[in-house]
Amino acid sequence: MKIGILSRSPHSYSTQRLVEAGKQRGHEILVLDHLQCVLVIEKGRPHIYYKGEEVTGLNGVIPRIGASVTFYGAAVIRQLEMMKIFSAVESQSLVRSRDKLRCLQLLAKAGINIPKSAFASTPKHVDNVIDVVGGTPVVIKLLEGTQGIGVILAETRNSAKSVIEAFLDVEVNILVQEFIKESGGEDIRAFVVDGQVVGAMKRKGAEGDFRSNLHRGGTATLVKLTAEEKALAIKSAKRLGLGIAGVDMLQSKKGLLVNEVNSSPGLEGIEKATGVDIAGKIIEYVERNEFNE
Ligand SMILES: Nc1ncnc2c1ncn2[C@@H]1O[C@H](COP(=O)(O)OP(=O)(O)O)[C@@H](O)[C@H]1O
Ligand SMILES: [Mg+2]
Repeated sequence: MKIGILSRSPHSYSTQRLVEAGKQRGHEILVLDHLQCVLVIEKGRPHIYYKGEEVTGLNGVIPRIGASVTFYGAAVIRQLEMMKIFSAVESQSLVRSRDKLRCLQLLAKAGINIPKSAFASTPKHVDNVIDVVGGTPVVIKLLEGTQGIGVILAETRNSAKSVIEAFLDVEVNILVQEFIKESGGEDIRAFVVDGQVVGAMKRKGAEGDFRSNLHRGGTATLVKLTAEEKALAIKSAKRLGLGIAGVDMLQSKKGLLVNEVNSSPGLEGIEKATGVDIAGKIIEYVERNEFNE
């Protein structure tokens, strides 16, 4: 098979592992920087040029789209979908998962427990927003933040108000959430591929940090999920329509809450913590959906 990996960082662990796992299974692997793709939209024959040459013969793609280029990345995937090429992450699902508000709305609608969240467009309602999530401390999040950047813990009403007002004043969309203190800076990441949990880890934030992100210095250890935890992760990925998903869950006194669903979850932490060939599982998922002209 000829498999494309949409990635802007050919040397990253995740991209390298996908290339390796694909080659091991006898495939030709192309790493395409989606920002270097020219999309040609015309009736009957949508196609793509990459660095001046038309892209042909792809049997499937694996998108690894960074948060800062969601718009263009989604457009490239949509173009591939128009060309009937299988994408391990669909364009619509990528867009859904990238907007934290939309993601939480979809999860809540599906009856999935999430941290109580509020959203407002004007600083006028700041007290209301803090009150409805149960008062301070609150977590304030940029709607399109990632890797823990743009996630702030405000301990007091005064600090929460000044942060919320500052963001809304410059028209940055934010979400205000109840702070799940009991989770103690830990969460569970379940890696879902094609409706199955292929690996899971517990992440713990660096000393003094409530954020468990590995990019912020957190550490990961292997964890065995209960049937209920697995089912919750699978349901969340399914609700967003994601073939590949990193489902993050927080342990709270009300039970397990889904905090977010990532559409380009990193492979390094999960492979090292679990010893599972996750890249191989992703390649096999593409194999099962091979597109032939
Ligand atoms: N409401 C919350 N209560 C407690 N911890 C939280 C809450 N929201 C986020 N966190 C912690 O902060 C981390 C980053 O938040 P997250 O919403 O996943 O944003 P990002 O997309 O930047 O990873 C989470 O992994 C979790 O450890
Ligand atoms: Mg996260």
